[in-house]
Amino acid sequence: MKRKAFITGINGQDGSYLAELLLEKDYDVYGIVRRNSVAEHQESRINHLDGLVTTEYGDLLDVSSLERLIRTIQPDEIYNIAAQSHVRISMDIPQFTVQTNALGLLNVLEAYKNNCPTARFYQASSSEMFGRTVEEDGYQRETTKMEPTSPYGCTKVFGYNMVKHYRNAYNLFAVNGILFNHESPRRGANFVTNKVVKSAVEIKNGLKEDLPLGNLDAFRDWGHSKDYVRAMHMIINHDVPDDFVCATGVTNSVRDMCDYVFTKLGMDYKDYVTQDPRFMRSEELKYLKGDATKLRETFGWEPEYTFETLMDDMIAHWVKVYA
Ligand code: GDD
Repeated sequence: MKRKAFITGINGQDGSYLAELLLEKDYDVYGIVRRNSVAEHQESRINHLDGLVTTEYGDLLDVSSLERLIRTIQPDEIYNIAAQSHVRISMDIPQFTVQTNALGLLNVLEAYKNNCPTARFYQASSSEMFGRTVEEDGYQRETTKMEPTSPYGCTKVFGYNMVKHYRNAYNLFAVNGILFNHESPRRGANFVTNKVVKSAVEIKNGLKEDLPLGNLDAFRDWGHSKDYVRAMHMIINHDVPDDFVCATGVTNSVRDMCDYVFTKLGMDYKDYVTQDPRFMRSEELKYLKGDATKLRETFGWEPEYTFETLMDDMIAHWVKVYA
């Protein structure tokens, strides 16, 4: 019998790559999509999967539809990837962020526990949970103290702990993937990588004159979403329920990224990038570098993309769009 997967956030960057991976592995793939007023963009990342995946309208805050779908589909694997995932925007809309990411996760967990408790459950936890903490050796790992610096990070700590609690209290196969930043051509254009790459290509093509950014001195461990959805599938299919960090172990600053991207396009980022208070954060997470030793040693996971080949993939995408 084909295995069935249910994905919240199927139309997002990770949801779309995960759906492709699961289809390759011969799963029946189901997902929920939030209704928004611009119907054309609702499923743009999964339009190419039309007829291959089944989508239904749903929302992490709409308990009855979650319960009904999980009860009728009876998935083998549930991936909770939906969220208000933008850290700075979580400072503008903290209550919505908490409702969606914290209460929403709890709604999916409850629907799972009440309707198909023999399934497996994956929660999209985040390196944003580590916040201010860096270990003495410069890394964050599974044992690192969590000190979040944003409403978004606080919601993810809640979700992480709730998943562990449900695992222990109700004997559920519920797991956390603690994923560091992961990007791709499908990344939303208001996250820094895609904003920089898209804008640099627009500047190169004379469509834009400058690029206003926030903090250029924050460091992030950036990987490719395609590598990270492979890790999600490995983590949920482990023989015991456990939590894993997924990261490349390489960190770069936003400035390094601008330098790489503009230089690749034959420009100097210093001629175009400006600092704009609108994109600064009231508290910044300054430094992320993940230690994925546990993931590598347990599953043999290795990223196929480096920081440079990730950026090259994104540059190639936008160069083609504007060709
Ligand atoms: N978005 C954005 N826009 N970020 C900027 C800008 C800008 O104009 N200028 C500088 N930055 C800096 C941010 O301050 C931050 O330090 C860094 O670039 C990365 O910002 P984002 O790309 O927005 O990602 P993030 O690190 O805040 O959060 C992402 O990674 C988390 C994992 O650690 C998101 O994908 C989260 O959902 C994810 O959990």
